[in-house]
Formats: sequence, structure tokens, C-alpha cells
Amino acid sequence: MPRLVVDQLSMRYPAGAGGVAALEDISFTLEPGEIRVVLGASGCGKTTLLNALAGFLPPSSGRILLDGRPLAGPGAERGVVLQKQALFPWLTAGGNVEFPLRLRGWPRARRRAEAEAWLARLGLEGCHGQPLHQLSGGMRQRVELARALAADPAILLLDEPFGALDAFTRESLQCLLLTLWRDSGKSLFFITHSVEEAAFLGSTVMVLSPRPGRVIHESALTFNRAFLQGGDARAVKADPAFIAAREQLLEAVHASQG
Ligand SMILES: Nc1ncnc2c1ncn2[C@@H]1O[C@H](COP(=O)(O)OP(=O)(O)OP(=O)(O)O)[C@@H](O)[C@H]1O
Ligand SMILES: [Mg+2]
Repeated sequence: MPRLVVDQLSMRYPAGAGGVAALEDISFTLEPGEIRVVLGASGCGKTTLLNALAGFLPPSSGRILLDGRPLAGPGAERGVVLQKQALFPWLTAGGNVEFPLRLRGWPRARRRAEAEAWLARLGLEGCHGQPLHQLSGGMRQRVELARALAADPAILLLDEPFGALDAFTRESLQCLLLTLWRDSGKSLFFITHSVEEAAFLGSTVMVLSPRPGRVIHESALTFNRAFLQGGDARAVKADPAFIAAREQLLEAVHASQG
């Protein structure tokens, strides 16, 4: 399983007088099988960081290493779920999920079966032939997740994938994601605004300061494993230890705002 190392990364956009410093001196490792959650205020550089890890943007300074080698653009071992939905509107739900498999040259019947299986796992059984405009926002978000998972990347980069969902759907997808994580051994890089979501999902939670984003806090947590052992998200989230960890993260976020 690949390891991503981010070493003194700074990201700067050329726009404006003197440019925009989005990220400053970020260092961390995404260990194989880890869920690293990034928490931070709007505009602090989270999406910029994801774009750098995906290989869409080159570092302004510092390095990103994949198994010891500098990233050379996007790669099949890294899957991405973008903040703005990026499904192909001219394809059906199933057509979208099949897309990466088609690129790999899978024959029609095999990719259809795989897409149907992923849609079913995400609670979208029978939606294969449906056009996207007939799906709700939450359903489209799940199609997006199914497409990323069908491509079977070792590392999944997710930018606020559950941000637009109602509380119930959000929690059920958090649980599903943890189950898929356990069964697949993938590494996840997960951006969220939700402190509760961060505490529930993260093996490590990293808090960024306002722009330019710097790492101002890191917590190692095990509530994801507690959920996988007990199977009850409500019980984990109501546990005093969880509430204490959530409050500690919230304090770090508030402290970062000065
Ligand atoms: N292409 C660009 N050119 C110039 N500035 C940019 C560009 N993209 C982003 N920025 C700026 O860089 C900063 C970080 O943006 P980014 O999208 O990474 O934030 P974010 O943490 O993902 O925010 P949100 O939580 O709202 O999604 C912002 O101030 C933004 O205005
Ligand atoms: Mg963003």
C-alpha cells in the first residue's frame, strides 16, 4: 500500500498583487490504511491541499512524495471525490460508475455487474439506468462515491463528500464509508467542516489555521475502530470520551480563529 509524504508544502496562487498564499509549511504522512481528516474554516486551503495531493496542482515549494518519489501529476492509485460534483451529466448513474472501468477496457457485462454492485452497496439498487437529473443531490453524491470506489484506488481523496446531506443520510454514509475502509484497507484523506464527522471518522484529525493554512493541531483518535467493533454510531457519538475529543477539536478550531 502506498504512502504519501507531504514535506514542508506551501501553495500559492498567482492571482492578485503579490499572489495568494493558500498553504504554508504543511508536513504530514498519509500512512497506509489511515483515515486522515482535515478540518478548517472556509478558505483555509483544504481543497488546495487535496488538489496538490491529487497531482492537479504542483507544489509552490516543498515536496509531495508517493512511495518516496515526487508526484508526477494524477495517478490511478489516487481516487478523488471533488467538492463540486463532477459526474458526467450525459451518462446515467450506472454509466458514470462504469466510466473508470471502461477506461480500463473491462468488457461490458463485467463492468455493468461491478457498477450495479457498487450502486447497491451505496443504497442505490436499481438506479443503474437512471439519468442524473432524476436523482436527488444526496443520491448523486453516492453515485460519485460509487464511481471513485469502483476504480479501486489505494488512496481516496474526499473533499467534503457528505457536506450537502441531511443528518440521517450523512451518518449512514459515514458508517458505510468506515465499513468499506475496514474491508478494503484503503487510505483516506477526508476534508470536512463538521467537527463531529472529523472525530468519528479520523484515525488522525489535522486542524488547519485560516489562510494561509498551517497545521495547528493534530489528534490521533480511535472512534472509527470503536464503531466498527460495536456497530452503533449513536452509542459512539454519545460516549463521554467522544464528546470530550469533539470538544477538544472544536476548541482547536476556535483557537485558530484567534
Ligand atoms: N485558482 C485560484 N486562484 C486564486 N486564489 C485561489 C484559487 N483557488 C483558491 N484560491 C484561494 O485560496 C484560498 C484557499 O482556497 P480553498 O478552496 O483551498 O479553501 P477551502 O479550505 O477548501 O475552503 P472551503 O471550505 O470553502 O471549501 C482561498 O482564499 C481562495 O480564495
Ligand atoms: Mg474547499
